[in-house]
Amino acid sequence: MQAAANALQNYLGLAPSAAGAEYKGRGDGSTMKALAWFGTNDVRIVDVPVPDITEPNDVILQVTGTTICGSDLHLFHGEIMALQKGDILGHEFMGKVEKVGPNVTNLKPGQRVVASFQIACGTCRYCEQKLSSFCDRTNSSSLQNMMYGTRDAGFFGYSHFTGGFPGGQAEYVRVPFGNVNLLPIPDNVTDEQAIYLSDVLPTGYHSVVDTGVQEGDVVAIWGLGPIGQCAARWAKFKGASRVIGIDSVPSRLAFAKEKSGIEVIDFTKDTDVPKKLMELVPGGVDVSLDCGTFHEPKSIVHKVQKALMLETDVPETINEMLLATRKMGRCGIIAAYAGFANGVNVGALMEKGIRLIGNGQAPVHKYWEEILGFIQEGKFDPTFMITHRVPLEDTAKLYSAFDKRKAGVEKVFVETKFSAPPSAGCPTLTRVDDWPA
Ligand SMILES: NC(=O)c1ccc[n+]([C@@H]2O[C@H](COP(=O)([O-])OP(=O)(O)OC[C@H]3O[C@@H](n4cnc5c(N)ncnc54)[C@H](O)[C@@H]3O)[C@@H](O)[C@H]2O)c1
Ligand SMILES: [Zn+2]
Ligand SMILES: [Zn+2]
Repeated sequence: MQAAANALQNYLGLAPSAAGAEYKGRGDGSTMKALAWFGTNDVRIVDVPVPDITEPNDVILQVTGTTICGSDLHLFHGEIMALQKGDILGHEFMGKVEKVGPNVTNLKPGQRVVASFQIACGTCRYCEQKLSSFCDRTNSSSLQNMMYGTRDAGFFGYSHFTGGFPGGQAEYVRVPFGNVNLLPIPDNVTDEQAIYLSDVLPTGYHSVVDTGVQEGDVVAIWGLGPIGQCAARWAKFKGASRVIGIDSVPSRLAFAKEKSGIEVIDFTKDTDVPKKLMELVPGGVDVSLDCGTFHEPKSIVHKVQKALMLETDVPETINEMLLATRKMGRCGIIAAYAGFANGVNVGALMEKGIRLIGNGQAPVHKYWEEILGFIQEGKFDPTFMITHRVPLEDTAKLYSAFDKRKAGVEKVFVETKFSAPPSAGCPTLTRVDDWPA
């Protein structure tokens, strides 16, 4: 698939972008450690040039914290198009400003900042509304344009389908349009509290806000990875009367039940999830949120269709949501999907009057200041989901451990040589090799 997608992209040529993805190394030949993709289930730590200011709006960060996301697993599995050997991954990171380009006047070397996973231009019609993930000007993928009719913003470390920008699972990163894509971190907010403003905190929040969770709603959440766990907390934050999480990973079910106080369904025990939900909530839930993953089909029908490339994505969760939601209820899709799924229950969607909402990639800029405020006021503590801390050198092993959900892993803080020591109450350094099986 990668070869075909890259060949098609070459044939189509690049779409215009206001930010180039290439970066310049430094005259002194200095190198850094970074995590790069080489093939399906093959990521490696490599030595690559340290980036320098390449365009006038650039900021170079020394990365002080990064992490792995469920979205990185789609890359690991080779299920996002247009990956190329040597692509540096990582879209959630924070750092210290090392250098600023001549146009960047709002940041200074030494400042602590967190980056949004998307690279927004700051001035297009979407950026004017802080809809940063939908920026029109920073993604050169004509392949995405062909498949979707338009294209998202460029993303860090997320294949050439989203612009081919090197990511932040590295010691340094170049941030194009650094003047808009970095949020300064106040001194009273720790690194562990700030880093997830990059993605999972605004993403979980967006799924709840954009799907319209209201006071008193009963909310069902498919997938209890970091996104689902955050969405559960945000749903309660917005006044949901009941939250029911669905997953099969025992540690994640226990985590959600014990740490977030929600009801849970193990879909390996209750295999008919909509039936179980209808028993728990006669008539159906008000809101369903898809926080799962498209690469784990449950039924033989979809395993086969996916293996034969008759579909790229599976509709199982969407169909379960359509059955389990009440008439005129809302279903939101925040989980990433890439292409086409067969057998969507369009009848249920239409006849039940369900509002099925593609939430899109979360527009981080719309929410990150508001959420930072909640953190500072003590209304929301993002550190609840951090289960492990590992060094950057371990990230190749981390991909496989996170994929297998080893050792109860939820969210990880990945430290670099520039990181501060762990904050009080947060996990201390472990090595992935030492994690229990
Ligand atoms: N839209 C955005 O802006 C955005 C941002 C970040 C992540 N994401 C997406 O959100 C999703 C969740 O991210 P994450 O970091 O929590 O990932 P994760 O892989 O850690 O968690 C996904 C969870 O879904 C569960 N799951 C799989 N199939 C299921 C099914 N049929 N029913 C119920 N649960 C199922 C898995 O067991 C797992 O615990 C991913 O698809 C990711 O790509 C979207
Ligand atoms: Zn992510
Ligand atoms: Zn823009």
